[in-house]
Amino acid sequence: MYADRLDNLPPYLFARIDEMKEAKIRSGVDVIDLGVGDPDLPTPPHIVETLCTAARDPATHHYPSYLGLSTYREAVSTWYKNRFGVTADPKSEIITLIGSKEGIAHVPEAFVNPGDIVLATDPGYPVYKTSTLFAEGICHPLPLTEENNFLPDLNAIPKDILKKTKLLFFGYPNNPTAAVAPMKFFDEVVEFAREHSIVAVHDNAYSEITFDGYVAPSFLQADGASEVGIEMHSLSKTYNMTGWRLGMAVGNREIIAGLGRVKTNIDSGAFDAVQLAGVTALTGPQDCVADACKIYQERRDVLVKGLRSLGYDISAPKATFYVWLKVDDSMKFAARLLDEAGIVATPGIGFGANGEGYVRFAITRSVERITEAVARMEAMH
Ligand SMILES: Cc1ncc(COP(=O)(O)O)c(C=O)c1O
Repeated sequence: MYADRLDNLPPYLFARIDEMKEAKIRSGVDVIDLGVGDPDLPTPPHIVETLCTAARDPATHHYPSYLGLSTYREAVSTWYKNRFGVTADPKSEIITLIGSKEGIAHVPEAFVNPGDIVLATDPGYPVYKTSTLFAEGICHPLPLTEENNFLPDLNAIPKDILKKTKLLFFGYPNNPTAAVAPMKFFDEVVEFAREHSIVAVHDNAYSEITFDGYVAPSFLQADGASEVGIEMHSLSKTYNMTGWRLGMAVGNREIIAGLGRVKTNIDSGAFDAVQLAGVTALTGPQDCVADACKIYQERRDVLVKGLRSLGYDISAPKATFYVWLKVDDSMKFAARLLDEAGIVATPGIGFGANGEGYVRFAITRSVERITEAVARMEAMH
């Protein structure tokens, strides 16, 4: 019944974990879910207020423009200038996305022919691979290992692979490893993409979720980045707006135009009222972002300290709301956590073969729940 492209998708391990979680809850277990990368914190009220006002205005009730409201794209441009010192023309170098997932899912459609190769960091956000498969491309994984600080070794990619490579997906601060990248690495990517004529797509969804004074860069800060690539960004994690579906792609105008051509044929843009709320988010007070980071940092400290007290050798991540823990067998460990402690964590293998040997904890639950999770893990030992 289904098309081959559905049958060719990798097995969705997260669905299995979900089933196991539901079964636990049905059996009366008080499950602590550290699996989902979805902030438990609410969207700041001033952003919600703008949405309510905008939604009452009939002018927002029509089809939005395909590329996005010009006021929203101008707000993105101003935010990129203030935050990263990056200049982007709102008309040609910025496009509104219905969340960054949408941009990641659509960009291979514009650049990948059947049989072309797409490089993607592994472990990685699963949509890099599935969007490649939907475009009938071939995904070549770039292993992220502890020895390489979870940065891909671009020199290790075989020449015959590079000849057929059209696109590269990468993202720092990284999901799931929580690693960050130095500017030097972004410079290397620019050189690499230029030399091999590759479209570089940087996924920067977590740039604002940072700790201990660390400030994450934009890929577009690297010299020449906007000649070879774009950056996918999103309001989801920064302003606790995962349900609102609002993001942006910024960078090279030809790549933005290619993505725009796909989008005009597939979607009808983000709701104007949501984009107006996005303007408030990007141009309004930013203390809500610092407040959220403070909360995540405290949770991170509780979890990392707790894991260390259980004998794990783990360093505190500088960014994202994830903790990437080395274990033996990722599926077995996650199953044991759920079975014996009622804790959901995501097995690393769900993010690609190189995620084996790790589980990911999302610190999207309160300090009390994380403290309880550590106590339950201690009881397991
Ligand atoms: C690395 C990464 N990129 C992109 C996304 C997509 O986020 P959104 O579509 O909400 O912008 C996520 C969401 O979890 C993510 O973890």
